Amino acid sequence: MNAKVEPIKFAYWVPNVSGGLVISSVEQRTSWTPEYNRKLAQIAEASGFDYALSQIRFTAGYGADNQHESLSFTHDLLAHTETLKVIAAVLPGPWNPALLSKQIATITHLVGPRVAVNIVSGWFRGEFTAIGEPWYDHDERYRRSEEFINTLRGIWSEDAFTFKGDFYRFHDYAQKPKPVGALPEIFQGGSSRAARDMAARVSDWYFTNGNTPDGLKVQVDDIRGKELAFGRKGPRAKIGINAFGIVRATEAEAKAELQNVLDHAIPDAVRGFHHEVQNAGNASPEREGNWAKSTFQDLVQYNDGFRSNLIGTPEQVAERILGLKDAGADLILLGFLHFQEEVEFFGKHVIPLVRELEAERNRTAVAAE
Ligand SMILES: Cc1cc2nc3c(=O)[nH]c(=O)nc-3n(C[C@H](O)[C@H](O)[C@H](O)COP(=O)(O)O)c2cc1C
Repeated sequence: MNAKVEPIKFAYWVPNVSGGLVISSVEQRTSWTPEYNRKLAQIAEASGFDYALSQIRFTAGYGADNQHESLSFTHDLLAHTETLKVIAAVLPGPWNPALLSKQIATITHLVGPRVAVNIVSGWFRGEFTAIGEPWYDHDERYRRSEEFINTLRGIWSEDAFTFKGDFYRFHDYAQKPKPVGALPEIFQGGSSRAARDMAARVSDWYFTNGNTPDGLKVQVDDIRGKELAFGRKGPRAKIGINAFGIVRATEAEAKAELQNVLDHAIPDAVRGFHHEVQNAGNASPEREGNWAKSTFQDLVQYNDGFRSNLIGTPEQVAERILGLKDAGADLILLGFLHFQEEVEFFGKHVIPLVRELEAERNRTAVAAE
């Protein structure tokens, strides 16, 4: 029997850092200001987007000179929207779970249960050094992140939370009030062995870099196998994949726009970022981190977003989204050159086509039963 197809979800990267989402001097009609972002969030929720992801960076660099803090920015976007869920990226180390769990609980009381967190384990040693945070080995960073996630959930769900870990300790801790509504969703970013294992054990969502459907499927199959091996209880980890959207009336126009972005790449900044993330990608013992195989061209978009190939006409892009869904994606995380204009365009011209394709599949599934 064919299962009914769940609608795929859409998210966008909150441009809370300057310089846009590509390391290129091409025109980007995008701004990192609060005013621009509030309007963008309102456009996104009216256009059928489910989530926004705000980023965390403590230090400037690689085309992003300024960056607003993710959680306070998230709160502001939630206060200016009604249905959009906003995910705040947080780094264990600078944050500890006692503080974050309290902040998130309070935000749900202020604006309702629409806030989520993205636990990012850190890739930039210089950033940690600059703010006086110790820099652990790759897999130690994930051990800490997993304890972080377990403590967040424990604090939010238990009345006398006790935890004796290697990184965090709690003794009969009673956090009050608890968050409003269901437990806030916990996302994570990263693609290494340790990242996939953490997703299989504890995360609600696994976020990965842009990839082909085949490249994504390998990761999803791996996570499913590990979920079984670890005896995961409850729902499986859901999968979100990054993509840079260039949707134009013709395929030639979309491809020309990509070429324009690449032609205007800022070589020193891309190379500097490349050097740093290759170190991060190769720091995991199996050398399969997020950026281990990224080329110069891939890294003109910070998270390999061109690889997902959502570059073409609305029809082509809708078909390719279904291809990523078949490979296991539950959510597409999108970046654009001109966020306000393109989020609106995507909502008007691509999401309806995706919904039609999904409805067609459901009809086929019902007919086959
Ligand atoms: C979709 C996505 C969003 C991410 N957002 C951030 C972020 O805002 N700040 C950050 O420091 N790292 C961020 N990361 C980086 C990851 O947390 C992780 O450090 C990186 O992917 C390296 O992981 P790996 O080498 O274990 O695969 C993000 C990663 C992905 C895939």
